[in-house]
Amino acid sequence: MGARVDRVKTGIPGFDDLVQGGIPKGFNVLLVGQPGAGKTIFGLQYLVNGAMRGENGIYVSLDSANEIVKAQGEMFGWDVEGLEQEGKLSFLKIPLDKPKINLFDILEEEVKAAKAERLVFDSLADFAINIDQFVIPLSYSMFPTIKSEEEQALMQNDKTYRYEVMPTLGQDPQGRMFYKGNSEKRITYLVMNKLSKLGTTNIVITDEEKGSEHLTVDGVSDYVADGVVMLELSDTGGESIRTSRITKMRNTKIDTNIKSFEFSEKGISLE
Ligand SMILES: Nc1ncnc2c1ncn2[C@@H]1O[C@H](COP(=O)(O)OP(=O)(O)OP(=O)(O)O)[C@@H](O)[C@H]1O
Ligand SMILES: [Mg+2]
Repeated sequence: MGARVDRVKTGIPGFDDLVQGGIPKGFNVLLVGQPGAGKTIFGLQYLVNGAMRGENGIYVSLDSANEIVKAQGEMFGWDVEGLEQEGKLSFLKIPLDKPKINLFDILEEEVKAAKAERLVFDSLADFAINIDQFVIPLSYSMFPTIKSEEEQALMQNDKTYRYEVMPTLGQDPQGRMFYKGNSEKRITYLVMNKLSKLGTTNIVITDEEKGSEHLTVDGVSDYVADGVVMLELSDTGGESIRTSRITKMRNTKIDTNIKSFEFSEKGISLE
């Protein structure tokens, strides 16, 4: 037997039993699915359940208006507004219309202010698509080699120096622009790394890349994540079915079977 693992209960019916009672504390769990798969609702349910147990949570969205996220919760009868007023639940919207966003500093401050133990990041795909809005530390930037070695050494030592990424744009199957190349993978790696240093237990949402060799649009987050949960929406003989599957959870004996997944009146549940 190894050291005892502290686990964080999602409280989502049918889920915790698949992962020995909960997500190991401090983990980054990637939640992958196509648009409409239920990722936002899953994430919000995780936070609401935590808040009701006295574990504060923060919902970080890069794209959706928080009003829409909150309204989803109210639809299931969750007291989102009340929990927010009690300071147990907070919503942080990262404005993507302003350049030079220092995401990591913002997250650190907000997690501290909210005394958050749980965090949902929605989403890594939105981060990758809008990568040129963010400031990224030099060591992760795309063109460090265009500087002389001497210059690089100086910049590396200067903690205040930030290098702005010059994006190489690609297009995903839906025609959306996103940042391409190896640097994108390194920056995704950096985001996951920074998230895991916040001290919170995180659900990191991203989009599934259909028909590609990669599971996710960034092509690397599933390798870096401590756990991977997939939400699927598929058609079988004209009938649309929702399923969920856990494909990875470090330090945990998992049930990897495909589970059916549904929206009940109280939210998501797995069977
Ligand atoms: N009570 C319900 N019964 C059935 N379906 C529901 C219910 N509530 C929400 N849905 C469906 O869930 C989907 C929205 O879920 P959610 O916003 O969590 O998806 P998402 O994976 O976050 O999508 P996106 O990638 O676009 O953000 C919608 O398609 C909506 O119709
Ligand atoms: Mg969503």
